[in-house]
Formats: sequence, C-alpha cells, structure tokens
Amino acid sequence: MIVADEQAMVELGLSIANQLKIGDIVAIDGPLGAGKTVLCRGILAGFGYSGEVSSPSYAFVNSYGKEDTSIPIIHADLYRMASEADIEELGLFDDSENCLTLIEWASLSEACIKRTEKTVSIEPARDGARRLIINGF
Ligand SMILES: Nc1ncnc2c1ncn2[C@@H]1O[C@H](COP(=O)(O)OP(=O)(O)OP(=O)(O)O)[C@@H](O)[C@H]1O
Ligand SMILES: [Mg+2]
Repeated sequence: MIVADEQAMVELGLSIANQLKIGDIVAIDGPLGAGKTVLCRGILAGFGYSGEVSSPSYAFVNSYGKEDTSIPIIHADLYRMASEADIEELGLFDDSENCLTLIEWASLSEACIKRTEKTVSIEPARDGARRLIINGF
C-alpha cells in the first residue's frame, strides 16, 4: 500500500483504529522519520484523542486513557532502549490484555516480535510517499 503524505497517514491510522480493540499489540517499524508517530497520531485520533501526540522516544512509554481516549492506549518507542533487559523492565506487556499497545521500533526486541500479531512496516518511497506492509489486521 502506498501512503502519499502525512494527511493520508493520519487517515490510515483512523481506519486502522476501527479494526483494533483492547488487548491488541501493534508493532510499527520503519526507519527514523518514516511516519510511525504520525500513524499512531491517526490511531489515537480514531479513539477520540484530540491533543498533541508526543513521540515516546525519550519517555519510552506514553499512556492515554480515561479523559484522553475511549479505551486505554499505551504508545511506546523502543529506539533508545539499550537492551532486552531494559525493555523487559518497561513492563510493556504487564497489563496489555487491558489496553491497546502501539510499539514503534518493536522489531528491535525479540520479546516484542514474539508478542505482536499485528505489524505495520513503513518504508520511505519517492516524493515523500511511504510504502506500507500491513499484516495481521
Ligand atoms: N507519507 C508520509 N507519511 C507520514 N509522514 C510523512 C509522510 N511524508 C512526509 N512525512 C513527514 O515525515 C515525518 C515523520 O515523522 P514521525 O515522527 O512520524 O516519524 P517516526 O517514524 O515516528 O520517526 P522516529 O523513528 O524518530 O520515531 C513527519 O515530519 C511527516 O510530516
Ligand atoms: Mg516516532
């Protein structure tokens, strides 16, 4: 699938949100600046979030719920995690049956790869477009 621009990526997130539910874990991969966070912004919007979506690159995990979104959502980014042990310590999956979990750079962690059935792989193409491979939806 080709996604032409940022707006189209947000719209894709909105439509993906329709197919997601509590307990789902989505791995979102692709190089720096591929549009992973933009896609997550669209997914969050699909669950009613209207605020700013900050990249969890430094916080590692951002949590949304209650007044933010219609279901609890965890948005994580593993890019700066040093080791599998550090990722384990995040406790990403401790409560994953009770929320929707979105993980940028999930492929950096074997443990994450094993847990995720839904994957989105984003690859920059020409003219700002992105090529997406979506599995498990
Ligand atoms: N087709 C497109 N889809 C998504 N984003 C696009 C597209 N074309 C251009 N962009 C731009 O690319 C950037 C994507 O940034 P984003 O933070 O979403 O990337 P990321 O994959 O999350 O990077 P990181 O690995 O640093 O977390 C944005 O500035 C966005 O405007
Ligand atoms: Mg990002």
